[in-house]
Amino acid sequence: MANNVVLKLFVPMLLLFAGVFSDVTFHFENICSHSIWRASNPSIGDLEPELGPEIYEIFNMDDHYSGSIWARTECTTNTDDYFSCETGDCRLGTRECADTTPNYPVTLLNFNVNESIVSYEISLIHGQNIFVNIKPVGGTLLDGSGPCPVVTCNMDFGNVCPPSLIAYNANGLYVGCNSACDVFKDDEHCCNGNNCQLDEYTLKFKQQCPNAHIYSGDNKPPMYQCKGAESYDITFCPAIGSAT
Ligand SMILES: *[C@@H]1O[C@H](CO)[C@@H](O)[C@H](O)[C@H]1NC(C)=O
Repeated sequence: MANNVVLKLFVPMLLLFAGVFSDVTFHFENICSHSIWRASNPSIGDLEPELGPEIYEIFNMDDHYSGSIWARTECTTNTDDYFSCETGDCRLGTRECADTTPNYPVTLLNFNVNESIVSYEISLIHGQNIFVNIKPVGGTLLDGSGPCPVVTCNMDFGNVCPPSLIAYNANGLYVGCNSACDVFKDDEHCCNGNNCQLDEYTLKFKQQCPNAHIYSGDNKPPMYQCKGAESYDITFCPAIGSAT
């Protein structure tokens, strides 16, 4: 059984090389039971959006990048050839999506790549539509304080999402949890002002995913800066509660 999984993960491996060979490699892995369609703002380069279940893919990043990657879910093309997704949709009607902001809720993977130095975080500022891990392989924190930590948000918010924040699909099923800021759109929930604190909503997110960034200005933990990692493994739908 375990061998099968490994084979399925590694045999259909696609190798994509974007531009010149770079210092920084992302390993995308989808262990969801469904496809996801990746999108980025700004574009991370030439990448087939769809990543099927149990597919593992290696992607060379440009030497300089600063932006967000996310996963769209439950995407379909309608009879007018318009492509859309239940979550993370780009409102472009195309499979490819870059250089635009997604519909919320969406789990954002934020990166800042400067040659071999990479800052990375999972942001729930615009809610959660999928659970993910970012795991640097090797490397050390730029400040020398230790190895580069895994950041993870591998809890499904379906059970804890306050009813007022739930995003439903057309069939009335839970598809994600919005941030209170995106729903209430007021200074209090958007943390506009000094001394932002966790509130009843952000606290719930924080309890589920303590090392994700929950509200604008959340600096616990800081955005890690990692140098010299062999790769950054980005896993969609990691086992609930696992750290890898
Ligand atoms: C990238 O890193 C170099 C050397 O550490 C630094 O001089 C430069 O300002 C950085 N570039 C950006 C865009 O942060």
